[in-house]
Amino acid sequence: MLPLPVDVRTLAGSFTLTGGTTIGADPACAGVARWLGEALSRPTGLPLPTTADPTIRLAVDPALHHEGYHLRVRPDRITITGGSPAGVFYGAQTLRQLLPPAIFRRAPVVSGPWTVPGVEISDRPRFGWRGCMLDVARHFMPVAGVLRLIDLLAVHKLNVLHLHLTDDQGWRVQIRRYPRLTKVGGWRHESMVGSRQHERFNGRPHGGYYSRDDIREIVAYAAERFVTVVPEIDLPGHTQAAIAAYPELGNNPDEPVRVSTRWGVSRRVLNVSDETVSFFRHVLDEVMELFPSRHIGIGGDECDKDEWRASPAARDRMRELGLRDADELQSWFVAQFQRHLSANGRTLFGWDEILEGDLPPGATVAAWRGPALAVAAARAGHDVVACWDSAAYLDYRQSDDPAEPVPVGTVLTVADVRAFDPEPAALPADLRHRVLGAQCNIWTEHADHPRAVDYLAFPRLSAFAEAVWSPAGQPPWQGFDQRLGEHLRRLDALGVEYRPPGGPQPWQRRPDAPGWPRTRTDRAAELAGLTRNVLPPADGTV
Ligand code: ACM
Repeated sequence: MLPLPVDVRTLAGSFTLTGGTTIGADPACAGVARWLGEALSRPTGLPLPTTADPTIRLAVDPALHHEGYHLRVRPDRITITGGSPAGVFYGAQTLRQLLPPAIFRRAPVVSGPWTVPGVEISDRPRFGWRGCMLDVARHFMPVAGVLRLIDLLAVHKLNVLHLHLTDDQGWRVQIRRYPRLTKVGGWRHESMVGSRQHERFNGRPHGGYYSRDDIREIVAYAAERFVTVVPEIDLPGHTQAAIAAYPELGNNPDEPVRVSTRWGVSRRVLNVSDETVSFFRHVLDEVMELFPSRHIGIGGDECDKDEWRASPAARDRMRELGLRDADELQSWFVAQFQRHLSANGRTLFGWDEILEGDLPPGATVAAWRGPALAVAAARAGHDVVACWDSAAYLDYRQSDDPAEPVPVGTVLTVADVRAFDPEPAALPADLRHRVLGAQCNIWTEHADHPRAVDYLAFPRLSAFAEAVWSPAGQPPWQGFDQRLGEHLRRLDALGVEYRPPGGPQPWQRRPDAPGWPRTRTDRAAELAGLTRNVLPPADGTV
């Protein structure tokens, strides 16, 4: 099984799904019973009707951890009891993994037998935030691909899908009040091929966006699978697509701006006028209408502040607010949205650059530039989602083989991801509760198609799922390699085009798209430069 449950005991005998098998549930988890009935019926061809005295029984027992469950398989009966419907759902996912891999197909390919070994499992997650970020701005993922990813997250007991909806290269969510955000910002003339350093372009337009109904469908589909969709509107940097749509948002409104066709961070950022703050409050109002998530992302990463330093209006703003520098201006800007979200009962979620300046406590920080940022965030009174690049950036190369498709970043193997510990060793015990959990991040500059996303995500996402669900442990993590080998058969049945353990298939290579591999030393030097305005210099204590 993967992720490995907390406690597994073998029982005598086994249960076999047959024409006589029935499903029944407490009213509280009737939706899970419907989902399980369909998940088991399609590949087995069995009717699995619901009855009052079923052979597969689902129930809620609030005495259990709310996402925990207890699963017992005896020859005459299977019972799944969860602390909430979510816990029941995770028990049902474990039950699927106890069946042959063909149970993950959507129509029958074998006639059985559908035998589940006798077992008693008690399980609960290590962390409450078990997430995956998908960048749909650099390359758009059509709705069908997002729904499929949600199913795959659910198979792995992950419960957060963070959608990076806007960036320099595209704006991907319909906002009724500002239609040009998608009309103009939703597509670009062409894209780079490979890393930006090579200056190669493909001459091919790229675009797409989610309508309000698309978002409603994604959110509802995710909710049925106990996945919360956390939206991100990236501000005040990474906004060139928005500025292309509404030049008055930028610092030089007379300068023509197009949606960026280049990877990397644009130097164009939002201006800090009242009108721009008000524009994005309206945007966030529509975002909150669509996304019930408590957390609403405002990005905040990699804001190049040169335009502000050069802008008389931004300098006036700093003077008028008594701010010392552009970092404080960024935190003032972010705080406008923190207040707005909080007035609406939501929590601001941002990358760790929101620690620059002096943001009031109470945000949730995605610590991407290393564990020291997680410690800094917790010390500043914020919650933390661990996702440092060295452990959780699934766009980074999977081996040092130059044949990896578009090899960028440092090497991040399946074993490296399995070894990810979201609780930094240097985090004081009294701040541990600040770590809500972790997420893996799938940036898509170099993944222009769902097949390429599969290659980046799997099977590292499976290893990540175990790092955030299962109790902390040490290699070999109770036979992780063997369990992963078995899990690949499930991914095969699910139609996932993962990276094979031996390296890319010939058609997964990208000889047309050169990368830009980094060593750990290169990356450490880059990050030391980037984080010096948050972390004390050469601070070896965090
Ligand atoms: C990031 O990688 N810019 C969050």
